[in-house]
Amino acid sequence: MTGPDQSGQVCVVGLGKIGLPLAVQYASRGLQVVGCDLSAEVVEAVNRGQSPIAAEEGLDERLAAAVGQGLLRATTDTAAAVAGSRTVVIIVPVLLTAANVPDLAALDAATETIARGLQKDTLVLVESTVPVGTTRGRVGTGLEASGLTMGRDFRLACSPERVYSGRIFADLRAYPKVVGGIDEESTQAAARFYSQALDATIFTVRDAETAEFVKLAESVYRDVNIALANELARTAAQAGVDVGEAIAAANSQPFSHIHQPGVGVGGHCMPVNPYFLIDGLGPAPLTSLARQINDGMAQYAGERLAAALGGLSGRRVLILGLAYRANVKEVAYSSALLLSRVLSEAGAAVLVHDPLFSPQEIEELGLRPASLEPPPAVDAVVVQAYHDEYRGLDLSAFQGCRAVLDGRNVLSRQAVEACGMKYLGIGR
Ligand SMILES: NC(=O)c1ccc[n+]([C@@H]2O[C@H](COP(=O)([O-])OP(=O)(O)OC[C@H]3O[C@@H](n4cnc5c(N)ncnc54)[C@H](O)[C@@H]3O)[C@@H](O)[C@H]2O)c1
Repeated sequence: MTGPDQSGQVCVVGLGKIGLPLAVQYASRGLQVVGCDLSAEVVEAVNRGQSPIAAEEGLDERLAAAVGQGLLRATTDTAAAVAGSRTVVIIVPVLLTAANVPDLAALDAATETIARGLQKDTLVLVESTVPVGTTRGRVGTGLEASGLTMGRDFRLACSPERVYSGRIFADLRAYPKVVGGIDEESTQAAARFYSQALDATIFTVRDAETAEFVKLAESVYRDVNIALANELARTAAQAGVDVGEAIAAANSQPFSHIHQPGVGVGGHCMPVNPYFLIDGLGPAPLTSLARQINDGMAQYAGERLAAALGGLSGRRVLILGLAYRANVKEVAYSSALLLSRVLSEAGAAVLVHDPLFSPQEIEELGLRPASLEPPPAVDAVVVQAYHDEYRGLDLSAFQGCRAVLDGRNVLSRQAVEACGMKYLGIGR
């Protein structure tokens, strides 16, 4: 078998927050790209050159340009798109079931559809974060339903996507692209494709399993590090020490890289990927404990607020920021959801504001939306995601507010106290 002809069409399966920017990136390198999604709405928007994704730096202009130049189109007919492509990139969600077990349903469905269109000599790349062994054992095996044999008839590699939404194009340039194939030819074919499609350097690893493990290692590292920061925050608070000041000083030593504490960890990666290690390769007690510590920060916040307000029953609490982090329209595993549950269970009436979400989108999550014009009368405010819109927020306009829980340690204690409110930081 010869290497895939990389001048052929590239098919991106999954046009979500990561997949659409990837499709646009490949087109910007002159590659002919077809993007596939289950959602007809997403496909139609992309074909009009309009991004269905908010707050992704540079995406609107680049998408319009790619579609305008005829380099990118979208379809719901994945099998047909695969049949006309030399390279297929899979970037569908792999999240968790309610029992925190990897949910491979979307990946299995995508694999089955791709198998229906798969042609000889195609290169298939798994970019979704997956449990170790999934690329070869699940995607590869599933693709063989096409009648083709992995390694002999088609190439297969894992290249976990490591970008951060909101700054994907910058990250695609900056982060080395890790690739590992099911065999050496697949690794080399993947490296050739990414050299053509990206500006980044390519970091090849021994096999697909190593590439899969790399992304789990990164996620676990950050989750454990944040859990440590959270533990330090809680102990610093007991000691009357400002943890932010202490961490900044500790990190002046070159071996210390302590992250920042906060009211919780959200998003597609850190609350999810550690379970791929725990579930498939465990026991992993440190990884499990980090998950517990980070998810436990919502309870900690609830306790701090209860102490400040003399209980939570009947209190009105406003959460600022539904998104899992600042300036991103993404609610997956957001700490706002955990916080809301903890506060509601303690009897508080919880309101949620987020400038990136419409009141209807907030309601669809079973939450009560609030407007800031004018600010509602509440007993306390929690800063969960510090969007740019919240900079310069006039806290004195929140009538009756007695406490502000600064879940991201971004406010000035003096400014809050000057409004006659109690300031509650995370280890400050
Ligand atoms: N979001 C992040 O910050 C991030 C960062 C790095 C890696 N990742 C990885 O990327 C994956 C996808 O993340 P996302 O944020 O783009 O998800 P997303 O939910 O924004 O988008 C996923 C898209 O895939 C589509 N889809 C689902 N099943 C499909 C199928 N069978 N065929 C075609 N399309 C299908 C959905 O309709 C949706 O549009 C994550 O699960 C993770 O593994 C995400």
